[in-house]
Amino acid sequence: MSENKAVGIIGIGTYVPEKIMTNKDLESIVETSDEWIVDRTGIRERRIIAPDMATSDLASRAAQKALEDAGVTADEIDLIIVATATPDMSFPSTACLVQANIKATHAAAFDLAAGCSGFVYAMVTGSQFIKAGLYKKILVIGAESLSTILDWTDRNTCVLFGDGAGAAVLAETTPGYGILASQLGADGIGGDLLKLPAGGSRNPATAETVAQRMHFVHMSGNEVFKFAVKIMGEAAIKALKAAGLSAADVDCLIPHQANIRIIQSAAKRLKLPMDKVMVNVNKYGNTSAASIPIALEEAVHGGKIKQGDIVVLVGFGAGLTWASAVIKWGKEANTNC
Ligand code: ACO
Repeated sequence: MSENKAVGIIGIGTYVPEKIMTNKDLESIVETSDEWIVDRTGIRERRIIAPDMATSDLASRAAQKALEDAGVTADEIDLIIVATATPDMSFPSTACLVQANIKATHAAAFDLAAGCSGFVYAMVTGSQFIKAGLYKKILVIGAESLSTILDWTDRNTCVLFGDGAGAAVLAETTPGYGILASQLGADGIGGDLLKLPAGGSRNPATAETVAQRMHFVHMSGNEVFKFAVKIMGEAAIKALKAAGLSAADVDCLIPHQANIRIIQSAAKRLKLPMDKVMVNVNKYGNTSAASIPIALEEAVHGGKIKQGDIVVLVGFGAGLTWASAVIKWGKEANTNC
């Protein structure tokens, strides 16, 4: 067992629902305008899950694509971690539902809750099992159906989010490649800024909690915005430093896709030109834990990331949480292990 094993992503896949909701569509639901939404957020459209589907369905489809991309079969997977704030139900975990769907019969499975930072939290967590020699192949998934927990009468929140899933297969990779460093953080004092107040043990579901719209996302947008602007650059710089690198070494930044203004401020803090920054918030809105893997997949399969590139993933979210990781991109599994 070596503590210095290189662990990286050897396959990646995504799934987004077919239904597109444009800003124009939203104009007939709440008092808003395409101009306001594009101006303040950069979002033009988002995907909405079909009524007969749930988060585990999105996650399973993304997982299958990641397995194909990695050339790995489901029964080779040792562990599935699903990062989500919108599980199918409190229990069983969405990870167990995915395990059954994709027939990953040898895999342990659990969910992880870290808001929009969830995928990076899951990737860093999963990689430790491989480094420790306990597991060889792990599926990490960020999957959300936020449209199911949005208050469609609240223009402050309903215009921002979308549904989707992204998955990655982790394995030991060529020495020098893979996840070079990471930084996970949390500030629970800020928990009230972004929450779903009812349906848990604090406020079990009652007719009153439903009437008070407590089963929907509640957010102090401005406060979250200020936190995000501060933390995105900071978290990226800390992870780069831990990897012995600086912002000048970055080939591609994959920021959490919440708001174009937050992404631009992170790029500015790192002094990165926008052509080194992956942006697809215009197409999908904020898909929470799914946003980073969806952006990463588009960057990889769209040719924006090449073998040997230094890639930085950075996100923030409910908790409050933040997470960053520096990856030297190289998608091959180490076949010697
Ligand atoms: N359409 C039109 N007007 C709107 C809308 C809308 N959809 N939403 C808000 N407004 C109005 C407000 O009511 C306000 O009007 P008022 O001045 O008359 O009260 C005005 O626009 C300005 O509102 P602000 O909140 O100041 O607008 P701001 O520029 O801060 O943008 C936004 C709001 C987009 C929510 C921004 O604060 C933001 O992006 N915050 C971060 C949110 C975020 O990233 N959340 C996800 C966290 S990650 C996770 O874990 C899920």
